[in-house]
This record gives sequence, structure tokens and C-alpha cells, in this order.
Amino acid sequence: MPEADATESKQFHADVPQASEHFFLKGSAAYDWGMQNRLARIFRPASGHTVMLAIDHGYFQGPTTGLERIDLNILPLVPYADALMLTRGALRSMVPPTIQQGFVVRASGGPSILKELSNEQLAMDVDDALRLGASAMAVQVYVGGEFETQTVHNMTMLVDEGYKRGMPVLGVTAVGKDLARDARYLGLATRICAELGAQIVKTYYCAEGFEKVTAGCPVPIVMAGGKKLPELEALEMAYNAIAEGAAGVDMGRNIFQSDAPIAMLRAVRAVVHDGFTAQQAFEVYEAVRRDSALVPAAV
Ligand code: R5P
Repeated sequence: MPEADATESKQFHADVPQASEHFFLKGSAAYDWGMQNRLARIFRPASGHTVMLAIDHGYFQGPTTGLERIDLNILPLVPYADALMLTRGALRSMVPPTIQQGFVVRASGGPSILKELSNEQLAMDVDDALRLGASAMAVQVYVGGEFETQTVHNMTMLVDEGYKRGMPVLGVTAVGKDLARDARYLGLATRICAELGAQIVKTYYCAEGFEKVTAGCPVPIVMAGGKKLPELEALEMAYNAIAEGAAGVDMGRNIFQSDAPIAMLRAVRAVVHDGFTAQQAFEVYEAVRRDSALVPAAV
């Protein structure tokens, strides 16, 4: 038992008000400590932005090109990402628990690419996400899709469970095969996700009016990458999305299907965190790619 502390010279600094910091993330000031802490493992407080690496494609389309061997192809990229987005199966089987990055676990699923994609249900519970130490859970929401209501309900059930445990929910606006990716549609879908409780919303970029999509969504939007583009075009898209109000990117194929994935990831970071233009970031891509070509392959 320690002795009573009777020191007379304690330093209370009574003239210095205790700091009460504003939480840096849009729309997130009223969340509980644990939820804010998890969000701060995805978004970097210094820039307010995130570079997420999406590798969850296998949950509905199997061994996607570039993801055939996550242990070989993806683990070397992880140090360059702020957070991963992946399934619990990939996490447990292939990602070492020493990982320092945040990670968002895919929590909806069901249909494969052979079936109606919007017919998803919840595919894991929040306790398992907690057990894994996840930073958030991701759920697909098909606004306008055949099973729209079911997928919205999937999200709201997760939000309810997430609030009980301080676990944020990332709502992914899924466009399916037939829906237009214009600002009107994306504005509708992202706003619905946020209004119904998602703490982060992931959506596609649109060339016209994306700033209205981000302004109309009261929580952070991260831009999905979409199909593989030439590197400069992908960097231009990321640059425009950030300039027009996105809080980050969650890119998959434009990273891991690149000829030089680490170079591409570093270039995307330069855009998202350091304010580089697309052209400046493309020069980063070219330089890192050139340098890594000089390094002999590991034996
Ligand atoms: C698709 O539904 C998955 O959730 C991916 O995370 C998402 O499509 C982002 O990956 P990509 O940048 O390859 O489109």
C-alpha cells in the first residue's frame, strides 16, 4: 500500500483551463470516445484524410486479379496505407496481428457475381469485429437496387449494434450494374446512408457536381476507386475528389492492379495527405517505380 501523498507543492496549474479539443472529423464531434478513437485509426488527424486500401473484392467475386495471393501481393503494400478494407477471412488467415494500420471489416455479403448482387445480408456480427480489434465495419447499401430496403436495414442494424460498442459503420453506396453514377444519384445514396447513421460513407467519384455530393453528406466521404485506369487518370480522379470535399480514398484495383502498386500507393498518399497535384504525384509514381526496378528481387 503506498503512503499517503501529502506533498504541498503539487502543480495544478489552476490558471490554465483544461484543453477541450474539437474532434477533427466532419460530423463526428458528438460520438463517444471509443468511436472517435477508432475513426482516428482510419483518418490521420494531421491531414484529416485517409488512404484506405480496399482488398475485400473476394467476398463476392472470388480471386480477383491482383488479389490471388494476398500474403504475397498485398502485405508488402500495407505499410503505405492508413487502413485496410477486407474480410475477416482474409484478415485472420493472411494478415499478421502485428499490423499497425487501422482496418475496416466487410460485414455484409451473400450473393456472388453469379446472382443478384443487392440481395445481401449481414455476414458477421459486431462482437467478432470487436474481437478482431477492427476500426469500423463496412456494409453495402443498394439504393435503387432490387433489395434496397433489405440493404438499408442491414446498415441500420449494424449502426444500432455499433453504437452499443463504439464501432463505426462505413456505408458503401453500391451502384450495381444498371444505375447511373451521377451527382443526383450519389447525392441521394450518400445522404441516405449518413441520415440513417453511417459514420463514414464510401461512394464513387462523378466528374460533374461531386462537390454537391460531399457538401450534402454530413459525415466524411471516401472515394471508391472503381475499375483500373491509367495511373495518371486515377491520380487525377483522386485529386479532384479531395479538392471537391472527399475526406480520403478507398482504392483497390487502381492500386493492386498497377504495374507498380507501392509506387502508386505512395503517389496517392502524396495527393491525399500532402496536397500534390495529380501531375506531381505521377512524378512520385514514376520515380518510385524506377527506383524499385533497380532493387534486385528477393531470392
Ligand atoms: C466492392 O464492393 C468492394 O467493396 C471494394 O472495396 C470497392 O469496390 C473498392 O475497390 P475498387 O477501388 O477496386 O473499386
